[in-house]
Amino acid sequence: MMMKQLLLSFSALLVFLLHCTTTIAQAPAKSPKPKSKGPANVTAILEKAHRFNSLIRLMENTQMGDRINTELATASGGLTLFAPADSAFASLKAGTLNSLTDLQKSQLVQFHVLTAYNSLPQFQTVSNPVPTQAGDTGKGHFPLSITMGGNQVNISTGLTNATITSSIYTDGQLAVYEVDKVLLPLEIFNPLPPAPAAAPKKAAAPPPPVLAPSPAAPVANITSVDASSAMGLMIRHAAVSFGVGAIAAFFV
Ligand SMILES: *[C@@H]1O[C@H](CO)[C@@H](O)[C@H](O)[C@H]1NC(C)=O
Ligand SMILES: *[C@@H]1O[C@H](CO)[C@@H](O)[C@H](O)[C@H]1NC(C)=O
Ligand SMILES: *[C@@H]1O[C@H](CO)[C@@H](O)[C@H](O)[C@H]1NC(C)=O
Ligand SMILES: *[C@@H]1O[C@H](CO)[C@@H](O)[C@H](O)[C@H]1NC(C)=O
Repeated sequence: MMMKQLLLSFSALLVFLLHCTTTIAQAPAKSPKPKSKGPANVTAILEKAHRFNSLIRLMENTQMGDRINTELATASGGLTLFAPADSAFASLKAGTLNSLTDLQKSQLVQFHVLTAYNSLPQFQTVSNPVPTQAGDTGKGHFPLSITMGGNQVNISTGLTNATITSSIYTDGQLAVYEVDKVLLPLEIFNPLPPAPAAAPKKAAAPPPPVLAPSPAAPVANITSVDASSAMGLMIRHAAVSFGVGAIAAFFV
């Protein structure tokens, strides 16, 4: 800065002394480019709110933050991000994120990004399932349903029922809403239901009504395992059947 000013002064002086024409005096007087408003920076928005550190970390690990920023600069329809706060991540079963592959981590983040900008009132007329960046909204994959009543916006994945707790940012192009839960997609979390999480609910619930027959449940192959793990698999299989049945019921 100082250097540049000195340089400029010096060249000005030079010009004066030599009585040169302006051509030589055109030193690169680099004035800082006026910062264009540009698309929003989703990471900066989340940082400013101070309670999305887990999400920021996940977005950094998966490079999804950069991707969202790039898409905001190029996509015309905008994006909507459902941002679970740190407390939502903290209430996940221990190890939930660590058990995921890199691809699954990316998909988890993508599942929180709707492929269009939505103002809060627009959720009233949204048609379900709502497309997310994770893709396939078919049953068992990445379906996401949004229902609005009064001022409440509910989001359901078939595994998670969440609600929007606040609006963090909206500019007509990017909307960031805080949600009270991490939205768990069926594609990633269904076939291996964490038994301890399902157990208390089963115990508390009344005997399940007759469930709709479940379509083609993924069945573990127990032909080549020993007796003790076969037992474990059978229990797991029972849990999977229950989970699939419950989901089938959910979608009926
Ligand atoms: C977005 O904000 C983050 C955090 O403030 C910063 O590290 C990053 O460089 C910014 N990205 C762009 C493209 O400005
Ligand atoms: C949203 O969920 C809450 C609690 O789960 C429920 O009481 C409310 O009726 C739901 N609202 C809508 C519009 O689905
Ligand atoms: C989510 O809400 C639906 C409808 O209100 C309900 O049937 C389902 O049991 C809920 N699921 C969870 C995991 O709370
Ligand atoms: C289980 O293994 C048998 C024999 O290897 C095979 O024929 C069958 O298709 C397998 N079933 C599943 C569901 O993978």
